[in-house]
Amino acid sequence: MHIVMTGTGYVGLVSGACFADFGHEVTCVDKDPAKVEALLSGKIPIFEPGLDELVANNVAAGRLRFTLDIAEAVPGADAVFIAVGTPSRRGDGHADLSYVHAAAKEMASHLRPGTVVVTKSTVPVGTGDEVERIIREARPDLEFSVASNPEFLREGAAIEDFKRPDRIVIGVNDEHARAVLQEVYRPLIRNESPLLVMARRAAEMTKYAANAFLATKITFINEIADLCEKVGADVQDVARGIGMDNRIGPRFLMAGPGYGGSCFPKDTLALLKTGHDYQAPLRIVEAVVLANDNRKRAMGRKVVQALGGDTHGKTVGVLGLTFKANTDDMRESPSLAIVQALQDAGMKVRAYDPEGMELAAKLLEGVTYCKDAYEALEGAHAAVIVTEWDAFRALDFARMADLLADKLLVDLRNIYDRDEVERHGFRYVAVGR
Ligand code: UDX
Repeated sequence: MHIVMTGTGYVGLVSGACFADFGHEVTCVDKDPAKVEALLSGKIPIFEPGLDELVANNVAAGRLRFTLDIAEAVPGADAVFIAVGTPSRRGDGHADLSYVHAAAKEMASHLRPGTVVVTKSTVPVGTGDEVERIIREARPDLEFSVASNPEFLREGAAIEDFKRPDRIVIGVNDEHARAVLQEVYRPLIRNESPLLVMARRAAEMTKYAANAFLATKITFINEIADLCEKVGADVQDVARGIGMDNRIGPRFLMAGPGYGGSCFPKDTLALLKTGHDYQAPLRIVEAVVLANDNRKRAMGRKVVQALGGDTHGKTVGVLGLTFKANTDDMRESPSLAIVQALQDAGMKVRAYDPEGMELAAKLLEGVTYCKDAYEALEGAHAAVIVTEWDAFRALDFARMADLLADKLLVDLRNIYDRDEVERHGFRYVAVGR
């Protein structure tokens, strides 16, 4: 199959490289000359484990190409995926669809009869109808289909998620689109990944409902964690206790500093907007968004409290800045609110993150960025783990004790055992334990 991927961001690049790896001929198109030039010279603009090798192998095999020129890429395609960004629109939180609409407009005049246009970007219900209208307006006589195929990739595990998905969702309103997408995903369907075929609007809804549900699950356990602290229970025991119930399931029950990233914050807001537009209020999601926003700053207060409220002129060593491990992504990271809260309380912040410091430096001022975890702890009155990087899972407590001004570990990801930490003479503050 000949596949075109418009947009070489996270979703487009990972999906394009994986499709090529299955043996399809893939052309990735992007409007950004610097990005395309970098990709052509073998540089990957994002940090994602295994992606550089996957791209290099498929470029070498001649199955993966990059171009700026949509007019050259689109005419031979069986399927053209739209994988451009849908950021939150300023003001109302709705998904900004201008890039999606622009991509549809630009490809319209180059499509050959029978091409299936597939939205992979996360788009609100009804966007497929609008894409169809835009192309129809430009090409009234063309035979084409528009389908929806949401992605469920997690940053840091995106290739694994693409190659071994829990399910593949395709939303189609005609038989031809279904047949083409089935062919596109044939290598995965052979591997027994379930393929769910539904109407286009249901597929669009599925993506938002999935992300809102996961955000709810995380927020639920975070609030239970707060209550656990007050009543003297361990939230990790509670999470295990409820997670083994098949109706609940064990995943996404890790209490922490609140969810961040490129999807949950943006998609929950966009879903709320759709709910308002259709006068179908989503009160649970509303509460989730509010609770998660408040939580991030509350984690700063938790550190202040652990220091006994006496913070002026003190220093905190922050370990981890990205919104989760194995990514360099700083979008909506809890660290942004936490560092700000610490600085507002008059503290100096030293920080280390294995991948996120370059992006963090653009967002967080007045922070001393360090070359490793230990440098970040020099003279600090507390070590605060914000992101669960493997590099922080086996810290040398003797070395930390020498460096720190105060033996206090605030573990916002619950990656340590209280007994182990206390055995080294540290005070230990965690989440919900
Ligand atoms: C998410 C969805 O998982 C994915 O299906 C969708 O396509 C894009 O959005 P991603 O944002 O990459 O993926 O990360 P994910 O692993 O889902 O984590 C999101 C946030 O929730 C992170 O801030 C993470 O730290 C937090 N989280 C996750 C928790 O606090 N507790 C958990 O148990 C799980």
